[in-house]
Amino acid sequence: KQTGLTTLDYGFVNTSATRSTITYIDGDKGILRYRGYPIDQIAENSTYLETAWLLIYGELPTASQLEKFDSEIRHHTLLHEDLKRFFDALPHNAHPMSVLSAGISALSTYYQDSLDPRNPEHVEISTIRLLAKLPVMAAYAHKKSLGQAFLYPDNSLSFIDNFLRLNFGTMAEPYVANPVLSKALERLLILHEDHEQNASTSTVRLVGSTEANMFASISAGINALYGPLHGGANEAVLTMLAQIRDSGEGVEKFVERVKNKEAGIRLMGFGHRVYKNYDPRAKLVKEAADEVLAALGVKDDLLDIAKELEAIALADDYFISRRLYPNVDFYTGVIYKAMGFPTRMFTVLFAIGRLPGWIAHWREMQTDPATKIGRPQQLYLGSPERAWPTDR
Ligand code: CMC
Repeated sequence: KQTGLTTLDYGFVNTSATRSTITYIDGDKGILRYRGYPIDQIAENSTYLETAWLLIYGELPTASQLEKFDSEIRHHTLLHEDLKRFFDALPHNAHPMSVLSAGISALSTYYQDSLDPRNPEHVEISTIRLLAKLPVMAAYAHKKSLGQAFLYPDNSLSFIDNFLRLNFGTMAEPYVANPVLSKALERLLILHEDHEQNASTSTVRLVGSTEANMFASISAGINALYGPLHGGANEAVLTMLAQIRDSGEGVEKFVERVKNKEAGIRLMGFGHRVYKNYDPRAKLVKEAADEVLAALGVKDDLLDIAKELEAIALADDYFISRRLYPNVDFYTGVIYKAMGFPTRMFTVLFAIGRLPGWIAHWREMQTDPATKIGRPQQLYLGSPERAWPTDR
């Protein structure tokens, strides 16, 4: 140990890097609150945009504040025409998460005169632009993968229906909104809106602490979310369920392989750094999965496998002793699949959900006078000083 300065804390298990007033979690009790409001009450009563306002500005909006916010976002949904050609440069099989992070960086080049983190007007317009345009870019990433033409946003529609239409409407056929689908997607996005200092939000804060602009910080957050141990878990869960089905090995055998840590496999959608009894979001998502599949008249054998997997794991000492429970990602993929989204879009949907939280944290950090550039310490274990070899 040569620096003598630090406490070594792999994965920041014990280190608070900031104070915050946005989200409260009690992992042992399974509590999640945004600005003091319990997550189940928010999911039951609010909308994506109202919750975004709550997270970003700290209080519930008045009716006129919400109307103005909604209308501003509607009027910023168009992407610059030139930006459409950005998608032409990418292969059709590009992962939509890569398209999204690159796209958000590219988007900032159109707004170079309004990116100053210290200018409140720039921060305000960047907030609106990101909330309005990121879902459009996400839908275009989806359309690109299908080889279908991009649709222009229809600002007469609600935020959610506009997004669904951009994904599932075509030039040939009008999109017919399905209220069950719209409501379910809205709820799922609300459940993802914030989760305090998770890996992607911490990334947004770390990048933002250098006074990089909001677009650059959020693009970095999207990349952090992409990994299968974080947001990418929803895609990984579905891949895992499909593998179990297609291999025919059976759920019990798969669980045995997980317990034996065979090739490092994990039960994707299980376990959480902070929730050690249950993830309150997972409970709500599981209910939504049953509702959506019933309403759409979809029977998915992957949902049956997921339920069997959950039942076996929750009765097994390996998972009980390590306090591993289903997390928010365990059932979301089954719902997104029933809605018609391809597996590779699942983490993009998580990104749309998490965007308001990233923005709220970025703004909180910029206005907190205690903020300093993020700069972790290290424990140096390398060679002591040595002389450059003279015989080289
Ligand atoms: N399947 C099997 N074993 C697991 C799992 C799992 N999903 N998660 C943790 N373990 C084991 C792990 O092997 C270790 O066992 P041992 O003590 O024998 O070495 C023990 O449980 C503790 O694991 P850890 O890796 O120290 O726990 P962590 O808090 O660092 O990791 C996690 C949290 C979410 C990364 C992890 O549980 C995991 O990899 N889960 C699967 C991926 C996943 O579903 N991620 C989504 C998280 S929720 C959405 C989000 O916000 O991103």
